Amino acid sequence: MSSELDADAAPVGASQLTELDADDAPKAADVKDVEAPAVNKSANNKSSLKESIMSHNLERDHDDTRAKPFVWLLALTAALGGLIFGYDIGGAGATFVMDGFKYHFGWECHPDDVGCVPKDQRQIDVETGLINGLFGVGAAFGALFAPQIFNSKGRKPTMSLGAVAFTIGAALQAAAVSMPMLYIPRLLSGFGIGMLSMCSPVYIAECAPESHRGQMATLWQLAITTGIVLVSILNIWLAEWDEGWRISYGGNILFSVALLGLLTIMPESPHYLVGKERFEEAEESLLKTRFEDQVAWELEELKLEAQQAREDGTASWSEVFDDGNVKMKTRVFTGVMLQSFQQLSGINAIMFYAPNILEDFFGSSGSIYGALALNIVNFFATFITIFSIERFGRVWLLFTGGIVMCLALIPTAVLASFPDATQAMGIGVTFCCALYVIGFAYSWGPVVWVVCAEMFPMRERGKANSLTTFSNWFWTCIVGAVFPIASTASLAGCFGFFAAVVFVATTFVYFRLPETANLTAPEINEQYINHKPEFPRKKWD
Ligand code: BGC
Repeated sequence: MSSELDADAAPVGASQLTELDADDAPKAADVKDVEAPAVNKSANNKSSLKESIMSHNLERDHDDTRAKPFVWLLALTAALGGLIFGYDIGGAGATFVMDGFKYHFGWECHPDDVGCVPKDQRQIDVETGLINGLFGVGAAFGALFAPQIFNSKGRKPTMSLGAVAFTIGAALQAAAVSMPMLYIPRLLSGFGIGMLSMCSPVYIAECAPESHRGQMATLWQLAITTGIVLVSILNIWLAEWDEGWRISYGGNILFSVALLGLLTIMPESPHYLVGKERFEEAEESLLKTRFEDQVAWELEELKLEAQQAREDGTASWSEVFDDGNVKMKTRVFTGVMLQSFQQLSGINAIMFYAPNILEDFFGSSGSIYGALALNIVNFFATFITIFSIERFGRVWLLFTGGIVMCLALIPTAVLASFPDATQAMGIGVTFCCALYVIGFAYSWGPVVWVVCAEMFPMRERGKANSLTTFSNWFWTCIVGAVFPIASTASLAGCFGFFAAVVFVATTFVYFRLPETANLTAPEINEQYINHKPEFPRKKWD
């Protein structure tokens, strides 16, 4: 048995076993001494964990949907990482049109600066690409690096390190006096966000009771959309001030410092603690996030799961890609595809470039307000998920959201194909984009993060989720870099491409994605092992 366990956490969604007969329920304190039954090590014995749990007489009360207010606070704290993410995604682009920024970096000359020669468009394009691109590259590396800390030191240190890296990077950007002084800090703050985006949704999913896991993990997305709205409102005002761009890059330090502070009072994930055999701390952590009668059974189940992970030892990369190992290859493929589809659906073409898309129809100031309206729609539509994700499930939301997005993208492509850009067409494009954003905001935006946070078993979670998060950032960079060139060649072609991707994505979830709402880790394993594509799909849950 490896002592250097990577099996630092039990799977997401350990049972919430509650409302037991007082006589039957072990006291939380006794649970520390429970001898977990031996479990079969064979990779092929995929139900061994479930059997162990059954043989241990663990029964789950499916009707227990209680969640302590503290666990909501915990989820909101971890979601602050999403606020920083959204603020940066929405913030940097807007600085490129701020006069203060353009004068400072020599993109344009201040009217009073007589001898000034502005940079040429080619150089400006390179610099724009580097500011956006280096952030994405940093985030992709951050996501890949995160499991080192996630597995060995825990979730809180991973998020704290991400927040520190982000804070240093953002502070340096706010103080930049030359373009190269923006580049390296962009990498660093991206790295921090990459770590946060790999860890925060998982931390929320691990700490949430399974009946609220989807809702709480959706707070991550809600925070992203809040950050985007906040900075787009702020940017309208900051554009008036020569040094305003510094706040676009550095203002979110406020949130990363708040995250660092609040994390000090949050418990470590009980999954991580049980995996490290720190049972007393795990129990304390559960006592903070669960009602007292919910603790004992959950702790017991976590111990059983962790014991199996310990017996199997550190998960190697080959196991992460091994279908004999509780369908890991299928799961990693599914997660990577979901994140890739999320990005290739074109959401960031709209998030980053809506002002440019709308400018042809409404002029520059109209386009900024049009983009702001889309961001506000994005924020409000996320509430649909919060109220429906547990009841309708992940697959249903992704499926219906995909249909809405497709139906919105096709007319956008048609409208964009007309040679003359009239205001009436602009209204049509804005309306279709808004419909697309609604479809995305209640489905592929939040649900992909939720599914990836809950779909992997304990041993492989760190490595597997770092791959799915990496693919998100990889495609964010590609779309961000290619869209300006591709849309100049054919805006209609771009929207047509996004529609085709969304169609494939919707078909993919219909056939390939098992439902994971409200399920415990062993149940999620079973779902992946037993799932068979069928048409028409009979099993939505
Ligand atoms: C995506 C981001 C996107 C945001 C828009 C997130 O789920 O990962 O790339 O900018 O949604 O709301």
